Amino acid sequence: MGRYKRLLGYLWPHRRTFAGSMGAAVFASVLDGFTLALLIPLLRVLFEVGTALPEAQTAVERIVDVAVGGWILGDGQASSLRNIVLLILGVTALKNVGVVSALYLGVYAQESATRDLRRQFFAHLQGLSLGFYQRTKSGQLVSRMLADIDQASVFFSQMLQSLVRQGVMVVVYVGILFALSWQLTLVTVLVAPGIAMVFKPILRRVRSQFAVAAEARGELTAQLNETLRGAKEVKTYAAEGYESRRFGVALDRFVRSTLRARRLAALPSPLSETLAAGVFVLLLLAGAWLAIGGQAMRPELVMTYLVVALRLLSPVKHVAQFPAFAEQALAGAERVFEILDRPLDDVDSPATKTFPGLKEAIEFRDVWFAYRDDDWVLKGVNLTVRRGEIVAIVGHSGAGKSTLVDLLPRLIDPVRGEVLLDGAPSTDYSRQSLRRSLAVVAQETIIFNDTVLANIAYGEDVEREAIVKAARAANAHEFIERLPDGYETRVGERGTMLSGGQRQRIAVARALLRDPPILILDEATSALDSTSERSVQEAIARLMQNRTVLIVAHRLSTVSGADTIAVIDRGVVVEWGRHDDLVAAGGRYQELYDVEWAPRPMNSTSKGGQGDVAWSK
Ligand SMILES: Nc1ncnc2c1ncn2[C@@H]1O[C@H](COP(=O)(O)OP(=O)(O)OP(=O)(O)O)[C@@H](O)[C@H]1O
Ligand SMILES: [Mg+2]
Repeated sequence: MGRYKRLLGYLWPHRRTFAGSMGAAVFASVLDGFTLALLIPLLRVLFEVGTALPEAQTAVERIVDVAVGGWILGDGQASSLRNIVLLILGVTALKNVGVVSALYLGVYAQESATRDLRRQFFAHLQGLSLGFYQRTKSGQLVSRMLADIDQASVFFSQMLQSLVRQGVMVVVYVGILFALSWQLTLVTVLVAPGIAMVFKPILRRVRSQFAVAAEARGELTAQLNETLRGAKEVKTYAAEGYESRRFGVALDRFVRSTLRARRLAALPSPLSETLAAGVFVLLLLAGAWLAIGGQAMRPELVMTYLVVALRLLSPVKHVAQFPAFAEQALAGAERVFEILDRPLDDVDSPATKTFPGLKEAIEFRDVWFAYRDDDWVLKGVNLTVRRGEIVAIVGHSGAGKSTLVDLLPRLIDPVRGEVLLDGAPSTDYSRQSLRRSLAVVAQETIIFNDTVLANIAYGEDVEREAIVKAARAANAHEFIERLPDGYETRVGERGTMLSGGQRQRIAVARALLRDPPILILDEATSALDSTSERSVQEAIARLMQNRTVLIVAHRLSTVSGADTIAVIDRGVVVEWGRHDDLVAAGGRYQELYDVEWAPRPMNSTSKGGQGDVAWSK
């Protein structure tokens, strides 16, 4: 019940539209009932049973009499007949105005509620930590955002269509039936709850089956997403067949589970119709007996009764379908709520302060970190970076270098120990303010499918001149000018239309534009040869000027120019100092230096010129 209420909550802000839809539905249903009631005078006139309306009237006839009696009890059969027919036409037209209004207002309320849900879902995603994204398949999230919310919105539409429009119709029809013959109607009303009981066990399975189908659809989306992102790898490894088979398996699973769910969900409607038809036959027999045998009911009333009872079948069928739709919607909603119920772990608490800027130093004090419990990646790192200093971090691949620098923008927080900024723990400061005062040029540069201009500005509201200036300083201006549309060129998803070095220079321009006092550089490994390009080197050198720099370094030129070098090995800083001192000390740094950078014969694996090879492979 709680989850129904929660879904209904999204309709609450749009309750006026909803009420309008309901009002229009009531209006339409009442008019619809009225046209049916007009059958009584029509039948009387057609079969010449005295006047259009009798002396002794049922409640329905009294209403007709009061409303339009004067008009249809005109002079003579012919004019009565004409007037009744005209009335039926007019009322039907008016009724349809109500139907359309109810429909439109209903859809409006539904779409508004769905939009609110999507907006909230997106905003919530933004507040979740990086760790969540690393653990969750993006395709599953896309599927939740699109398909599952669509499915949840079925609740709103069905709620409006079945419960409101058809429900009102059921009430009006049953009211007419009661007025015509309460004995007959009582039989029907007593049977109805019994019919509802039949569906209970089916409905319970509907939801769980739809949940399975939603999960399968999420997997399908995730798989598609992966294949599309990796289009280049799929082609170069000639893995199209393999990917098709993998997709086929996921697709089959999705189709099977969806069919199973739909089969179950389809059951209540025909079942209820069959059962209702049974009730109808009963009514027919009882009505015939009352009309012919008992003489308690006039024939035209029996006819009208049966017509209304027949008309009742369709709305009853719709209403009976509602629980199945609701269960299906809940299956989708639960997957959405599951994300909405995750605590916002990347949102600053009001207690955090704004980072005022670095005055003295950044200090990593006995920092421990694990991505998974007890699988320590950082094991007590101690390191000090003084303001204005360039500190190089070196070490083997997987040593924890990228993890260490992720601590500064608080993408992750230490599990134990602290990162102190002028003596205050980084967790005292808001993530927002920390991230604003530093720029990161990462190992893999992320470029968005937008113009070059927008990619450099990325979220900042700045003048074009400032962007061009940053691009010049990043040695990017020239190649940007040569692009088909210059700064307005769209660079394709993840910047695939640019070379690795070009992407990196855009990232440098982005960082230059922000002009941050603290800079974090995660140098590309040897795998990305293009970064050893001179223009990128120059741009990065310019970016590093007059800033506090923490650089994960792979090149001798960067390393030897640093003020301090910290050697990380398996999550601990094992050595630190200046290049010459460390080489002279003959420790781990010297070992690495000998293996990777020392001059070697021509057949070495060196690609980037003498001594310019990365350690990480
Ligand atoms: N999101 C993550 N979830 C779980 N484990 C991770 C995650 N990111 C990194 N790791 C693990 O943490 C360890 C350190 O990774 P990190 O990226 O810090 O290495 P690195 O020193 O930057 O290596 P490289 O020089 O290759 O970039 C590795 O063993 C890696 O497998
Ligand atoms: Mg790394």
